[in-house]
Amino acid sequence: MIPFNLPYLTGRELHNIALAHGYGQLAGDGRFTKQCHRWLEVHTKTSKVLLTHSCTAALEMTALLLDLQPGDEIIMPSYTFVSTANAFVLRGAVPVFVDVRADTFNLDEKLIEDAITPRTKAIVPVHYAGVACDMDSIMEIATRHGLKVVEDAAQGIMASYKGKSLGAIGHFGTYSFHETKNIISGEGGALLVNDKAYIQQAEIIREKGTDRSQFFRGEVDKYSWQSVGSSYLPGELIAAFLSAQLESADEITNGRLRIWDKYHELFQPLESEGLLRRPIVPDDCQHNAHMYYIVLPSLEIRTNVVNRLKEQDVHAVFHYVPLHDSPAGKRYGRTHGDFTNTYVAAEQLLRMPLWIGLEESQQQHIVSIIQKELVK
Ligand SMILES: Cc1ncc(COP(=O)(O)O)c(C=O)c1O
Repeated sequence: MIPFNLPYLTGRELHNIALAHGYGQLAGDGRFTKQCHRWLEVHTKTSKVLLTHSCTAALEMTALLLDLQPGDEIIMPSYTFVSTANAFVLRGAVPVFVDVRADTFNLDEKLIEDAITPRTKAIVPVHYAGVACDMDSIMEIATRHGLKVVEDAAQGIMASYKGKSLGAIGHFGTYSFHETKNIISGEGGALLVNDKAYIQQAEIIREKGTDRSQFFRGEVDKYSWQSVGSSYLPGELIAAFLSAQLESADEITNGRLRIWDKYHELFQPLESEGLLRRPIVPDDCQHNAHMYYIVLPSLEIRTNVVNRLKEQDVHAVFHYVPLHDSPAGKRYGRTHGDFTNTYVAAEQLLRMPLWIGLEESQQQHIVSIIQKELVK
């Protein structure tokens, strides 16, 4: 059996959890949370990072920070996870879905401007598979129209665009540490507050709408309810686990890149024969090997390939159902333009097993099953 994902452990996670207990604080924002904040701030070169329960929670925080009103519009790809849209729908905002690019399956920057209306408040680029969107174009459009940019970098830790960390380019960025991501804590996430004007409000929203963070730093003599907020901070056990992973982030990323490169090499002959297409990484992007996918010629062929792999106990999976086509997407969102590339991604893309420990012989086995199915 070759699973799609196996959560990686560095070996120091449980030790850190015992340490957290020994330090006498299991609630959030203790030593390990601060350690993770520091690590992320240094490595992404951003001014403020706050751990959250999930990337979903971090996205919800951005919707609160933007003070969205019912009917405000947020431009985003249809080919993304539900949380990208849900976070804004919770505030009464309307997701405006546009198509993705044919090469990277990222938000097509050329379609954004036409989707802007007087109600547009923000653009949410999603860095699919840890490969960056065209952030120069997106930031330029946002500046020209006075819009905010929230990078959904759920899959983007340790990846960069023109040398800048994904998540650290827009006004806000969000990471996921869900067990299927590169750096994990089971469930977990982080909000990168790149626009300093929002730091204080972000701390308040995360602490149930209170200025408790300022109180703990001795900046105010008591804390009280300041604004709408919720409980978005994870406990120390999560942070303790995560800190072990962050310390090994280079090693984890390099390990995944080796597996990604091997798939890329093994699939090259099949691409040359026109049987599939491999991922495309634009020159400006350093990806993080979050995902290795192939794009097959049709839904029918993909279904056959998935079934052949399943028969041999290999678990390969497809990805998002386009949001604009889902029941809630139709109810809460609106569309702009057509979705040609979104449907290619939804119907023809297949993700390969990728986890540290996956052996080259297993990768060869997977590719040979696919090859047999495609050339038969
Ligand atoms: C693009 C994208 N955004 C948001 C999320 C939500 O992340 P989390 O599970 O940490 O809430 C995911 C999760 O897979 C994702 O792929």
